[in-house]
Amino acid sequence: MCGIVGILGRHEVAPALVEALRRLEYRGYDSAGIATLRDGKLDRRRAVGKLVNLSDALVHDPLPGKSGIGHTRWATHGAPTERNAHPHRAGSVAVVHNGIIENYKALRDSLAADGYAPETDTDTETVALLAQRHVAAGKDPVEAAMATIDELKGAFALVFLFDGHPDLMIGARKGSPLAIGHGEGEMFLGSDAIALAPLTDTITYLEEGDRAILTRDGVEIRDESGAQVSREPQKIRMDAARVDKGGHKHFMAKEIAEQPVVLANALQAYLSDDGIVLPEPGIDFDKVERMVMVACGTAYYACVTAKYWFEQLAGIPVEVDIASEFRYREPPISKGTVALFVSQSGETADTLAALRHCTGRADSILSVVNVESSSIARESDLALPIHAGTEIGVASTKAFTCQLNVLLLLALRAAEARGKMSNSEVATLLDELRRLPGVFNAALGRDDIIRETAEDLADAHDVLFLGRGLMFPLALEGALKLKEISYIHAEAYASGELKHGPIALIDHAVPVVVMAPRDHLFEKTVSNMQEVIARGGPVVLITDAAGAAEAGDDAWRTIVMPDVDPRLTPLLYALPAQLLAYHAAVAKGTDVDQPRNLAKSVTVE
Ligand code: F6R
Repeated sequence: MCGIVGILGRHEVAPALVEALRRLEYRGYDSAGIATLRDGKLDRRRAVGKLVNLSDALVHDPLPGKSGIGHTRWATHGAPTERNAHPHRAGSVAVVHNGIIENYKALRDSLAADGYAPETDTDTETVALLAQRHVAAGKDPVEAAMATIDELKGAFALVFLFDGHPDLMIGARKGSPLAIGHGEGEMFLGSDAIALAPLTDTITYLEEGDRAILTRDGVEIRDESGAQVSREPQKIRMDAARVDKGGHKHFMAKEIAEQPVVLANALQAYLSDDGIVLPEPGIDFDKVERMVMVACGTAYYACVTAKYWFEQLAGIPVEVDIASEFRYREPPISKGTVALFVSQSGETADTLAALRHCTGRADSILSVVNVESSSIARESDLALPIHAGTEIGVASTKAFTCQLNVLLLLALRAAEARGKMSNSEVATLLDELRRLPGVFNAALGRDDIIRETAEDLADAHDVLFLGRGLMFPLALEGALKLKEISYIHAEAYASGELKHGPIALIDHAVPVVVMAPRDHLFEKTVSNMQEVIARGGPVVLITDAAGAAEAGDDAWRTIVMPDVDPRLTPLLYALPAQLLAYHAAVAKGTDVDQPRNLAKSVTVE
């Protein structure tokens, strides 16, 4: 979602602001803008659409200045227009914001009573107006910013810049991440390490409720109560902050292709010669009576897959829920329950709220995250990193397989601890898992047939995905991938549900992707496939060699995957699902890495 950057620099800041915004593009946005202090006076440029439009505006009308703030906006309140783009300005104050100010209507009424009228449809402008009211009442910029922040309800990361104060920038974090970058005679603020990486290798993550008062010489951090606090600076791992396509046409293509390497690294982080190694404090699975797993989107489908593993391998009952439903249903959490949250970004607002509902109720809070410094990781008793590396493509790919990897290892550890699998059974499956990166490599060799199939699918208006058992969540994930990047309407059903309604949709124009390795459920799924074929539906069968031989040549297309232990199929079959979506999107010419309306890190509900 929205990206924020701020620079108190030694040189002209406009180019560096735009470059930092470019690095934040992956979060998703629909307009962008920057403001600088030019001879001590605020000035700004904003543009709708891609960053190139802002760069064009800056070429025609440059913005000098050595202090500045910048923003990529993903519209929430108000259409994506130039007027609604950040930075917002009121008198001597400019503000950029990520999140939602929930009480902005009440604040607007109070501002209107004092004659402060908004010029935009945004909640953010209220923040600038409030700060300006405090300045007009005689407060200095720091007092004005602090008083303003105290009045806000909701989730926000904010950065303020003030007319006449070129050596001052104020940031605040509550519900949305914000990091300070430390330079030599320069200071920075940014939404994440990726934005700040070209500017500095030393950053400090603000904690919830923190406010930061920056000058070029350093920073003073205060907590919510106003007390001065110190937060430990960290070195940025440059490999984690690298943003390049590595010779691929899209980040998504790169992230799909690098899965063998990423998975091998992720496995190495959790496996020793003796078996599975979990970070401390570990978890006593013997005492676990029930698990609840909560997440959104692709991460939710990882949880649905994990439910099969935990129930079948470890005998632990699992409930899985979508975070936005879970948080408002406020389900009772009984003793003996472990709550597990899965999130690539670790900042998804609904997942974080669901976690907070479980804090103090569940026996322990586990999370499976890609960003180890994220809010969800920090608020968990045990955070398990997936080691996927930075994921830039909005559509989650390598993070999904790495989430599955950690969840499977956790389920195996639970199975071992509860005596449901012997050490040698687990060791045998771990050997299979160690082989998986090589199998992934072989599967990438199926790219041509998958691309040809995807090019044919690209003409469809609707596509159905079917799967049974462990392939049901994969079918859900396949449909989500296809719709989000190619904009083809796609739905997934458990194969057995076909006859209970969806079969009415089948005709020659509705391709059906059937995900079915030759496992104990194969024959049942093939029966469902025959029901589709009998009604003229073109079937894309994704299976293995034994499955392909048994199914014969009734399918319109058959994609043959390498053989793998049936329990590992969700990891492997993610690959053709991702490639089908990717190639269909490329064939349609959509914006693969930044699909319309989507954001990478969904920090508002
Ligand atoms: C789909 C996708 C989203 C995310 C969802 C949760 O490709 O990426 O559905 O999975 O927004 O995001 P995280 O994992 O960051 O909580």
